[in-house]
Amino acid sequence: MNPPDRASGVPYHRPIMKTVLRRFAGVVALMACSCVGQTSPPRAFPDAASLPAQAALPDPLVKMDGRRVESRQEWFAQRRPELKELFAHYMYGPIPPKPVRMKPIVNGEYRDFLGGKATLRLVTLDTAPDETNAPRIDLMLVVPNTRTGPAPAFLAINFCGNQALTSDPRIPLLRGWLRNSCRGCTNGFATEASRGTQSADWPLAEIVGRGYALATFCNADVDADRADASPGLYAWLAGNDPGRNNPTNRGTIAAWAWGFHRCVDYLVTDRDIDAKRIATLGHSRNGKTALLAAAFDERIAMAFPHQAGCGGSAPSRGKTGESVKAINDRFPHWFNAQFKKFNEAPERLPFDQNALVALCAPRPVLFSAAEGDQWANPAGQFEVLRAADPVYRFLGSAGLEAKEMPPLGKLIASPLGYYLREGKHSMTAADWHVFLDFADRQLKK
Ligand code: GCU
Repeated sequence: MNPPDRASGVPYHRPIMKTVLRRFAGVVALMACSCVGQTSPPRAFPDAASLPAQAALPDPLVKMDGRRVESRQEWFAQRRPELKELFAHYMYGPIPPKPVRMKPIVNGEYRDFLGGKATLRLVTLDTAPDETNAPRIDLMLVVPNTRTGPAPAFLAINFCGNQALTSDPRIPLLRGWLRNSCRGCTNGFATEASRGTQSADWPLAEIVGRGYALATFCNADVDADRADASPGLYAWLAGNDPGRNNPTNRGTIAAWAWGFHRCVDYLVTDRDIDAKRIATLGHSRNGKTALLAAAFDERIAMAFPHQAGCGGSAPSRGKTGESVKAINDRFPHWFNAQFKKFNEAPERLPFDQNALVALCAPRPVLFSAAEGDQWANPAGQFEVLRAADPVYRFLGSAGLEAKEMPPLGKLIASPLGYYLREGKHSMTAADWHVFLDFADRQLKK
């Protein structure tokens, strides 16, 4: 077996067998691409220990060379790419590039879903046809039947499989490895008992009734949420060679963000979906992913990182809630090896999460949080938005309307949106009401 050389991006040349080359053509092409989606080679950034400590959230408008961004053009052509490389280098690892031959397979289409109010479309995204070990992402689409044109869409990543969102037996059970904390999951896999176990938290009829489509996939279809193994995307990229499946410069959140991007590849081709109005959404670790995916891909119109916390919507700096060290110790696979170097000194990071939000500018982003979820640092999340706001203003957009945290239950619906409710760490139907209200304000206009 002759897998591509991960470091150089060039396949080994001995022995050059046609079948081998064909088998790995997709992977070779993947590896030949620049991992952050740019054509220039990655720049060399300083070692973590030599970066200056900055107590406050760094200003995204100040470049690594210390100079301020002077123009819109400079933001998009220079500083934005620089920030993407910084996040890839020091924190998430690169988001792997687009596969060359992804094939969407429509497995079923049913116009009678939700009592005839919606069409259920079941699509499998085969990210490398003919290769047995490439990720296959099951995308479930629920599209309103009554509408005047293509529907705006929530593209949401879920924890326990599409079948957990509704008891409709036509939805295939999740194939990938799951935690047993997902109801109806036994020995790491979804069973029939898992159907509909989360339907109360995903109000499909209401989403459709308000004119939105829902597209959803499970993170486990992309890669498993495990520290001990990455049997999905990264195993495939490593040519299935465990010796090359090395976690040093990659992380599972970047893998899941890649999954979002593949779903967008498909959705922009679906005539029922408005390609200009696709919003990514996720809860907690999935919220971190929804924000990262939107930050790196301008096809995504809006992001809903719900209670995303550390490594997502909360600052890495400061002492409130989950710290960089805590998240790295418990979930080492989520981020790359560089990020661990900031465990004791997050103030040396040359960016903070306000810069990830700034990468989305001027596209709207809603941070929704819960008072009882101090681990995700709701007050810090508000500060992150405040510190992203200058970039929105710089680009001529409105940013965060509020100067102070709003009272519980009051939605700030400016392009940088904020919402704090009572209660705990969870995503409920009531949260969806807020997502829909925010989307009505910022996506439907
Ligand atoms: C843990 C982790 C958080 C994460 C959360 C989740 O609490 O510390 O960072 O957001 O799990 O994904 O549910």
